Amino acid sequence: MTSRAVQYRRFGGPEVLEIVEREDPVPGEGQVRLAVRAAAVNPLDWKLRSGAMAAADAPPEPRVPGFDVAGVVEAVGDGVVDLAVGDEVLGKSVGGAYAEKALASVRGLTRKPAGVSWEVAAALPVVATTAYRVLALLGLDEGDHTGTTLLVDGAAGGVGVMTVQIAVARGATVIGTASEAHQDDVRALGATPVVYGEGLADRVRAVAPQGVDRAVDTAGKGSLRDLVELTGSPEKVLTIADYAGAQELGVTFSSGGDPDVETRALAEAVALVADGRLRAPAVVTYPLEQAGQAQDDNQYRRVAGKLVLLPS
Ligand SMILES: NC(=O)c1ccc[n+]([C@@H]2O[C@H](COP(=O)([O-])OP(=O)(O)OC[C@H]3O[C@@H](n4cnc5c(N)ncnc54)[C@H](OP(=O)(O)O)[C@@H]3O)[C@@H](O)[C@H]2O)c1
Repeated sequence: MTSRAVQYRRFGGPEVLEIVEREDPVPGEGQVRLAVRAAAVNPLDWKLRSGAMAAADAPPEPRVPGFDVAGVVEAVGDGVVDLAVGDEVLGKSVGGAYAEKALASVRGLTRKPAGVSWEVAAALPVVATTAYRVLALLGLDEGDHTGTTLLVDGAAGGVGVMTVQIAVARGATVIGTASEAHQDDVRALGATPVVYGEGLADRVRAVAPQGVDRAVDTAGKGSLRDLVELTGSPEKVLTIADYAGAQELGVTFSSGGDPDVETRALAEAVALVADGRLRAPAVVTYPLEQAGQAQDDNQYRRVAGKLVLLPS
C-alpha cells in the first residue's frame, strides 16, 4: 500500500518540501505504524529543514519532517504487547510525522483520552515533555514550590505556555515574558506578564521585588545574560534554545530527556488536559499540502499558537 508524505531531499526554505506518494513504512521491533490524524509543527522541524543544524550539505536520504503525532495504530511490529490495532495514541514519531502514515516507538506513545481532539493531542508531545523536563532540571519538579519565583522567557510560545501553567499549579510565582500582543495571554495562565527585549531585567525587577530564584529561556533570543543577572548565578538558569549563549555563560542547555520519563510526563499532561486542569496551546490547523506555509508561519510568527497539519 502507498500513502502521502511530505519530504525534502535538500536543505533550504519551505520550497524544498514536496508531497510524495510512498510505500507505507513498515514497523520494526517495538514500533507501530499509525494512520496519522494530526501532526504538529515545531521550530526544530524548520531548523532541521534549513540545514542550519546539519554537518553535511544535504540529507543523505529523503527526510519526512515532524516529531509530534496523534493517530490510530494500524500495524504493530515484533515485540509490541502494550498496543494493538485500533488504539488511539499520541506521542513522538520515528522517521517523520508529516504524513498519512508514520512510525513510532511504543516507548514514545501514550493513549489519547476520548475527550481530547486529534489536533490538541498532536500539539502536546514536544511542548509538554519539554516543560516537565525544564521544571525538573530547575528543581521545580512535582511538589509544592510556594515561595519560589520563576521567570519564563518566551511564555507565550508552546513550551512557555505549558511551563508556566505547570509551575503555577506547583505553587510557584511565575513571571512570563511575551510581546505586547500576548501580555493578556500570559496573565490568563496565572503569571505576571513582562514585555521581552531591551530593558528586560529592569522590568522584571519592578514586578518581582522579592527577586527571581530560577529562570528558563524558552525563546533563544539572547536574554541569557539578563536571566543570569536576575537570578545571580548561571546555575539557576536553563535554556532550551540558545546553545551558544549557554556555552558562553556556563548555563545548562537541555535538548532531550529519558524517553520513558518523557512519555510518563506526556501521559500526565494529556490526562490533565482531558479533565480541564491544563490548557493546551491554542491550535491552528493546516492541510498536509500546506506544510511549508505552516512552517513559515511558525518561523516568522505570522500565526500564533501551535500549528497542526491534518492529512485529510
Ligand atoms: N531543547 C529542547 O528540548 C527544545 C524543545 C522544544 C523547543 N525547543 C526550542 O525552544 C524554542 C521555542 O519553542 P516553542 O515550540 O515554544 O516555539 P513557539 O511556539 O514558536 O514560540 C516561540 C515564542 O518565542 C517568543 N519570542 C519571540 N521573540 C522573543 C524574544 N525576543 N524574547 C522572548 N520571547 C520571544 C514568542 O512570543 P510572542 O508570540 O509574544 O512574540 C513566541 O511565543 C524554539 O527555538 C525551539 O526549537 C527546544
